[in-house]
Amino acid sequence: MSRLWVRFLLPLVLILATVAYATGPLVERLTMAWFRRDLDIRAQVIGASLEASLAGDDAAGKERVEGIFNRVTRDERLYGVALCDERGRVLYASTLFPAEADCRAEPAQQASAQGKLLELPNGPFHVATRDFETESRRPRRIVLVHDMSFATRRSSDSRHYFILVFVGIGLVVALLTMIVAQLSFRGWIEGLRSMIRRRSLLDLDGFRATPELRPVLREFRRALRQLEEEQRSRDESRVEWTPASIRDVLREEFSGEQVLVVSNREPYIHERRDGGIEVRKPASGLVSALEPVMRACSGTWIAHGSGSADREVVDADDRIAVPPEKATYQLRRVWLTPEEEEGYYYGFSNEGLWPLCHIAHTRPIFRSADWERYVQANRRFADAVVEEARRDDPVVLVQDYHFALLPKMIRERLPNATILTFWHIPWPNAESFGICPWRQEILDGLLGSTIMGFHTPHHVNNFLETVDRYMESRIDRESNVVSLQGNLTAVRHYPISIEWPPRLMDTIPGVRECAAEFRRRHGIGAGVRIGIGVDRLDYTKGIEERLWAIERLFELYPEWIGHFTFVQIAAPTRAKIDSYRNFGEDVTRLADRINARFGREGYVPIVLLKQHHEPPEVYRGFRAADLCLVTSLHDGMNLVAKEFIAARDDEQGVLILSLFAGASRELPEALLVNPYDFDQCARALHAALSMSPEERRARMRSLRAVVRDFNVFRWAGRMVLDAAMVRRRSRVLKHVRNWDFLERLPVAP
Ligand code: G6P
Repeated sequence: MSRLWVRFLLPLVLILATVAYATGPLVERLTMAWFRRDLDIRAQVIGASLEASLAGDDAAGKERVEGIFNRVTRDERLYGVALCDERGRVLYASTLFPAEADCRAEPAQQASAQGKLLELPNGPFHVATRDFETESRRPRRIVLVHDMSFATRRSSDSRHYFILVFVGIGLVVALLTMIVAQLSFRGWIEGLRSMIRRRSLLDLDGFRATPELRPVLREFRRALRQLEEEQRSRDESRVEWTPASIRDVLREEFSGEQVLVVSNREPYIHERRDGGIEVRKPASGLVSALEPVMRACSGTWIAHGSGSADREVVDADDRIAVPPEKATYQLRRVWLTPEEEEGYYYGFSNEGLWPLCHIAHTRPIFRSADWERYVQANRRFADAVVEEARRDDPVVLVQDYHFALLPKMIRERLPNATILTFWHIPWPNAESFGICPWRQEILDGLLGSTIMGFHTPHHVNNFLETVDRYMESRIDRESNVVSLQGNLTAVRHYPISIEWPPRLMDTIPGVRECAAEFRRRHGIGAGVRIGIGVDRLDYTKGIEERLWAIERLFELYPEWIGHFTFVQIAAPTRAKIDSYRNFGEDVTRLADRINARFGREGYVPIVLLKQHHEPPEVYRGFRAADLCLVTSLHDGMNLVAKEFIAARDDEQGVLILSLFAGASRELPEALLVNPYDFDQCARALHAALSMSPEERRARMRSLRAVVRDFNVFRWAGRMVLDAAMVRRRSRVLKHVRNWDFLERLPVAP
């Protein structure tokens, strides 16, 4: 308030006083002129009434005349009266008539003539004359002297009143202005606040700003777009994304801040086997994608310690440096009780969320006991994140459907963390997701993230629609940012990929050697073409469908019987779950049936390898094959397709890819199929087997270019760049919310 007084009110009062002071003499002159005019009229009126009494004989009436004069001058303003003859001599005068006001003054020409001002030591006087003739026709003059001191007194009084009234009016106007300004300023602030709070600067286009807010709104919009474009161009300007690019981005955007990854599956599993300890790499697209990123970032990967020898190799803080061959980052293991693993991993994650999100016609099962374990396990991982965080603002990469509650749990305990959550599996439409009894808790948990990532724009839309349907949040459709209780989550698609060039390729022999060895190992004759499939033994992967398609190939194109063998590598997975166990048995039965139908001495159409294969073996298989079949019924991305491409530096081999795998959006040069359409798949198999080497090369070259350019470093880099942008945006909003910049405005009414 004191600042307000100094900045606004004081100058205003000073200006008003100066103006009033400067105009004072004018006011005084004006009032004096009014009084003189008044006295002129008054003098003429008195003169006229005296004229009648003085028209008779002068000499006879001296006493009478002077008596009249003295009576008339009892009026406090009329100071003196005199009667003069035609030569200017005073005939009669009232007692106080001043000698200076003699009759020799210029004769007045008319009755309304203006009086003269006479300055005497005892004050200013107004001297008016009136000429007339007596009855005997002698010219006479009445001189009336009015005391003007009252007029000067009053005019200086009015000058003071004038100044006071002027300043008073000024103050009232200033006060009213202040009140109105204060009210509209508040309204303005409220408007801005609601623009920010209610819409969170997200839905700016939909926001109806008042006229005075429009320029501000335009500025905000411009600044935010600029931020986004800056980030986008930084992504596009990098033609090549490498491990070094990731390190650069982290250093530039997060001053090399610590990166924490959280996933259920760990990148290295220590198993006790034959009295020793073996290290195994799990069959998980998530792990294949993230591992190279972690090597580049050298942070800490927090995961469930699921191996039988995991506890034996960690230090006192449950950490172990990995990769075993050259440690570059830390693996922090989290231990779960068998009950927790049962409820959280097998139950809620894999019998509930997994079938819920994959439209593969396996019914999800939701048990409240599983949900409780899921919440408990998420808490346990949140504890681990907080323990591992060296600062209050780490970058945390939360992975997959096992941790839907984790982003919010982390946000509550590390409010400044940058949380990038990636959902590696599809997100179904709002209606399908709505059957989950804990849909709100899941969405609420995920919206603790800074960035929520999916593989495809389709999954982004499904997620936003689900949020829209079930949550009280605001969604800016233009930038796909959700605002929930002041937290902003940007929902984006980031097609996941693999490392390029894959490190593994340095150790894998040439194509010929791989093919010869593969044939030898699986008893495949020299003239037999090879197809390969590599999956976990999961009902979403369309393994049965592809076997039916092969059966149909033999029916439609019998020339391939005896000349085509399909090798299916099927890593056992989640075998405690009935649907998985049954599925594994169904696949075996189906393969056996097809083999019985089309196999013969020395020729097996389907080679089913139900066991875990380490990545180098898988890559050898890819290099040995003529074609690779990826027929997922529904898949977030499917990295097997990209790994097959990466393995084919000879630019040969044909990829047959399901339309229902996210990868199909990026890889149109593959032969795209509907896995439910067996005839179509059989025709694609025939086309692949009959394709000319030139066409194979052209397709593979183009596929390789896509995987090279859109590798996993770009995937992670784009997320980190976007997170940095959201982080900056949140900071801008935080400043705006605090309104401290308003305090610094030059004039704050
Ligand atoms: C999918 C999931 C991953 C998971 C992988 C293997 O790719 O998105 O999160 O790690 O399957 O499954 P598992 O249950 O063995 O970890």
